[in-house]
Amino acid sequence: MAERTLIIVKPDGLQRRLAGEIISRFEKKGLKLVAAKLMRLSLSLAQKHYEIHRGKDFFDRAVDYISSGPVLAVVLEGPKVIEITRKMMGATFGFNADAGTIRGDYSMAYLNIVHGSDSVESAQREIPLYFTPDEILDYQMPDEKWM
Ligand code: TYD
Ligand code: MG
Repeated sequence: MAERTLIIVKPDGLQRRLAGEIISRFEKKGLKLVAAKLMRLSLSLAQKHYEIHRGKDFFDRAVDYISSGPVLAVVLEGPKVIEITRKMMGATFGFNADAGTIRGDYSMAYLNIVHGSDSVESAQREIPLYFTPDEILDYQMPDEKWM
């Protein structure tokens, strides 16, 4: 099966009306949207999302932030999709992220606009928190036979 990743446009992305622009970057790169959902994370889902960070000093802040307003959750599919999307997102904090990356271009600090799974294992754990199998579509794009 092709590699998949979970991308979330975080609450500041929605508040700043940047959801379309951010998803558009991934689309233009050639990645395929296979699931999408506009939702507000419950506290419990936000805690599950950041489970690997439980106990760290920023855990509560990260949970509060990602559950503070509506988000757009999507699943993207494509060869090396995790490596590609992490590169396109840039370093964790806006002030460290290179210009030309999403976080580098749109964020300054801890409000960093976008989440993306950091490994195949993380993606496999995260995606089912947001989507049931039937919400993830299986379809072909015309250029896929060249990939
Ligand atoms: P992390 O998974 O390390 O970063 P990334 O989003 O690049 O995978 O951290 C999760 C979120 O927690 C991150 O997007 C912002 C927040 N965070 C802090 O607020 N302080 C910190 O020191 C770290 C490492 C993360
Ligand atoms: Mg992470």
